[in-house]
Amino acid sequence: MSSNKISAKINLKDNAYEVIVSKGILNDCGNYISNLEIGNRCAIISDSNVAPLYASKVSESLANKNIKSELIVVDAGESSKSLESVEKICRKMIKTGHDRHVFVIALGGGVIGDLAGLVASVFYRGVPFIQIPTTIVSQVDSAVGGKTGVNTPEGKNLIGSFYHPKIVITDTLTLSSLPEREFNEGFAEVIKHAAIRDKSMFEDIMSVEGYENLDELILKNVETKARIVEQDEKELSGLRAHLNYGHTIGHAIETAGRYGKFLHGEAISLGLIAANKISSQKSNLSDSENEIIIKALKKFNLPTQLDNSVSTQSLIDIMKSDKKFKNGKIRFVILNKLGEAELSEDVSEDDISLAIEALRP
Ligand SMILES: NC(=O)c1ccc[n+]([C@@H]2O[C@H](COP(=O)([O-])OP(=O)(O)OC[C@H]3O[C@@H](n4cnc5c(N)ncnc54)[C@H](O)[C@@H]3O)[C@@H](O)[C@H]2O)c1
Ligand SMILES: [Zn+2]
Repeated sequence: MSSNKISAKINLKDNAYEVIVSKGILNDCGNYISNLEIGNRCAIISDSNVAPLYASKVSESLANKNIKSELIVVDAGESSKSLESVEKICRKMIKTGHDRHVFVIALGGGVIGDLAGLVASVFYRGVPFIQIPTTIVSQVDSAVGGKTGVNTPEGKNLIGSFYHPKIVITDTLTLSSLPEREFNEGFAEVIKHAAIRDKSMFEDIMSVEGYENLDELILKNVETKARIVEQDEKELSGLRAHLNYGHTIGHAIETAGRYGKFLHGEAISLGLIAANKISSQKSNLSDSENEIIIKALKKFNLPTQLDNSVSTQSLIDIMKSDKKFKNGKIRFVILNKLGEAELSEDVSEDDISLAIEALRP
């Protein structure tokens, strides 16, 4: 039996879909999927950590509704987010006899969601897609919003598409097997959502105890992201850019560590603190509001200081190579106050250097 089901509706111009959150819902996923009437054959794409834990639950629940599934497993980790994987998966599906009548299920974290979403968007020019996210990051962030993508040696997520799922089925019980570090890093995105849109969420964040009672908080985050994506689906008006709070400097720190030293959420934790500093200089973010964010980051053992192994200049160089600066200025998301973000055109290289220096122990 699953816990009480709660859900949110994502309303986009050409797409509307539901995100359902419930502990234990994996055992029932066949019901929800069968109700969509999108066919009786599917490919479940998962990774080498998640598939052994959860794939049989999904395929059994589908079989109960006479839906036949084939499991395709890729190696766990960011390196599977490549065009090579897209080709391998598509060819495997063709050899298995799949055609435009198949649908694709992503079972895993953000890596699998981004990869399987891209596969679904190009296989026979697009087949229906379902997200079953199994990490905090994917449940609160990547499963919602329709961005799919893979990496190339030139950079992350440079090849992809906008392609929305037909439904997102979120089982918070899957979080019980998530390693502690991966569990914690996901809260950087939760804290980011609270910082840019919903100050009241900090109370919920500070009362989190493990994965047990997370359904409401996860749904709140889905709704926060959904309301932004609904207003600026393709990142045209600048509103969706608010979701990048902490990410300009955070990404540079992640890249400088060559995707190894820091997990994404850990780098974003430092990026958030640096962005707070800039927000207090360019706008009205107060010390006490900054402290609320730092206290939340510390609760999840996220880093708040950057040692000297990464130089400030090397981080600026990374941001420059991303062509992020124009005439010495960069478009940068700042907070006017806790819960209220804004896009500023007035942040300079010096402002960023000082904010990075302030992270030093
Ligand atoms: N599309 C978007 O809008 C968007 C937003 C944010 C992040 N992303 C992307 O998401 C990716 C990061 O996602 P992630 O943090 O979920 O990483 P991930 O998918 O690599 O998962 C992290 C690790 O946890 C393992 N794992 C997943 N679920 C598990 C479970 N329930 N139990 C045990 N182990 C489990 C995975 O095998 C992996 O080793 C990045 O590639 C990033 O670019 C995309
Ligand atoms: Zn992020």
